[in-house]
Amino acid sequence: MRILVCGGAGYIGSNMTAMLLAAGLEPIVFDNLSKGHKTAVKDAEFIKGDLADYELILKTLKKYEIKAVMHFASLIEVGESVQVPLKYYFNNVSNTQTLLAAMESVYVKKFIFSSSAAVYGVPKKVPITEDLSKEPINPYGETKWAIERMCHYQSQTGKLRYAALRYFNAAGAGNNAALGEDHHPESHLIPLVIQAAMGKRNEIQIYGTDYPTPDGTCVRDYIHIEDLCRAHLLVLDKLDQNDELIYNLGNGKGYSVREVIDTVKKVSGKDFKVVETARRPGDPPVLTSDATRATKELGWQPKFPDLEQIVSTAWQWHNKYPNGYGD
Ligand code: UFG
Repeated sequence: MRILVCGGAGYIGSNMTAMLLAAGLEPIVFDNLSKGHKTAVKDAEFIKGDLADYELILKTLKKYEIKAVMHFASLIEVGESVQVPLKYYFNNVSNTQTLLAAMESVYVKKFIFSSSAAVYGVPKKVPITEDLSKEPINPYGETKWAIERMCHYQSQTGKLRYAALRYFNAAGAGNNAALGEDHHPESHLIPLVIQAAMGKRNEIQIYGTDYPTPDGTCVRDYIHIEDLCRAHLLVLDKLDQNDELIYNLGNGKGYSVREVIDTVKKVSGKDFKVVETARRPGDPPVLTSDATRATKELGWQPKFPDLEQIVSTAWQWHNKYPNGYGD
């Protein structure tokens, strides 16, 4: 079965592509390489294309007789989304609408969308269940929620079967630690701390130490990239019987920024400078998932829930690719 993987050259998309290949499926990667890396696509079929290009999407869906689409091609910088919201609405919402329109015209119905815990904003309770109110606090989260609603209404017409997977903090490296995180600029905690441990940064800054959490720093639910991707395989099957599936994907266990830093120190055996600074605007104090629905309905179980395991795969990848993929 051929699956179009939009954003398949990015961090999560490239891991998904490798897992689809390993499962005997045929991923066709569609990526404009604005953020992704051709090297990360490895042996999969690759099309350099943009999701604003309706004709190219249509041609691709037809040529490869695509049966399902996975969509990882979003802009993900919360801070940037506040500075240039229209860029986010265009890239995320408008391009997804173009993709869905092309799918509709050739009767491709199955769609798996990478949503985010950002749709919940500052949750009223944790761990977060899927039915909690959706009150995003930045344009990035708003675009993810707008896409979910668009999918919902499209599915009601009978022309779409979709899953919205709300990721918590994707982390680590997959495919034997061969596929890791290489963002430019990097803003995510684990790769930044690892770069400090490797001496590629002078220090790591902790953004806020006065949060209402046990050690005063923000708590997040880190989920190993392979566990995240495996849920997509399960969802792909389940979409044969369902029009609409919505799942949180996380381990349900939170780790503070300080715990992440300590874990990187332990895994790497390196010490480095840690500086306490002001809060980063828009950071909720605690985001942890209740993924009971995915566990029960999909039979999904994370294999690498432990932070040390997650960090050690990331550490291995950064040592294999000290300068990133280089493309
Ligand atoms: N942090 C630091 N120092 C740094 C970088 C991050 O203290 O140098 C802190 C952040 O303030 C936050 C935590 O580390 O408290 C995690 O930050 P990340 O940027 O790694 O991840 P976020 O939780 O902000 O964001 C993640 C995804 C987003 C997604 C969001 C959903 O990366 O794409 O979860 O809430 F939108």
